[in-house]
Amino acid sequence: MIVKRFRKGEWFHSEYEVPVERGMTLLEALQWIKENLDRTLAFRANCRMGLCGSCGLTANGEPVLACETQVSSLGEEIELEPLRNFPPIRDLVVDFTPFLEKQREVKPHLIREGKEDWSREYFQSKEELDSYIQFTYCISCGLCYSACPTSSLRDWLGPQALMTAYRFSADSRDSGFRERLEAVKDHLGFCHLANSCSEVCPKGVDPSLGIQLLRRKANRFSLLGDRKRKPRGLVPPREKGEPIPYPEPTVEGAEEEI
Ligand code: SF4
Ligand code: FES
Repeated sequence: MIVKRFRKGEWFHSEYEVPVERGMTLLEALQWIKENLDRTLAFRANCRMGLCGSCGLTANGEPVLACETQVSSLGEEIELEPLRNFPPIRDLVVDFTPFLEKQREVKPHLIREGKEDWSREYFQSKEELDSYIQFTYCISCGLCYSACPTSSLRDWLGPQALMTAYRFSADSRDSGFRERLEAVKDHLGFCHLANSCSEVCPKGVDPSLGIQLLRRKANRFSLLGDRKRKPRGLVPPREKGEPIPYPEPTVEGAEEEI
């Protein structure tokens, strides 16, 4: 296993022999190296189950989660390097600050207008939920940003932030598209539909689709303004995802309100 490493502004390579066991993940191989061969090797991980999104790296040229990747799936010779399109910090650890700042720019939360009526529940129909649910599976791992050819050429919001802008703007409880449009409008034209973001996403999210839906919403907004439109359930969950449990409405008569 060859690891491309970074220390004090310099790149160099280290080579390790790892005894591969059946079922061994890339993260376990890195831990074995750290415990047995080289304590100085730096990498980041936390949950070890594909949930926290912190163990992303590039393996044989592809961005992957180390904890979800079997060593045996990568062949005899494995080359590791940090996630591309991220500033390196040390060895396989990269700086997520610019990536998370881009996410913050698109206001990744529900924006509400007027006074809340706390006496009632805001029920969503199945169609309304389907219009954004797959985008909520994102774990902010950055693999899509690392795979994106546009991100390697220019500093832009990138697939994850634009997809997140759509996720909240498509939510029937949100009224913040006008504010979000200010943040995204100069970035919508840069996506060339390479689709590499959607190919590498470990959670089955389709950021490329999110960008196209955001473009359509922005075009519609420029023509028709902030008019509410009945959702058409355009984004069914992808096959990779778990079946989605739809909660029963808990407020009597809530179905009649939609
Ligand atoms: S869209 Fe997928 S690849 Fe991109 S940050 Fe979210 S989970 Fe990771
Ligand atoms: S360690 Fe959390 S996703 Fe890999």
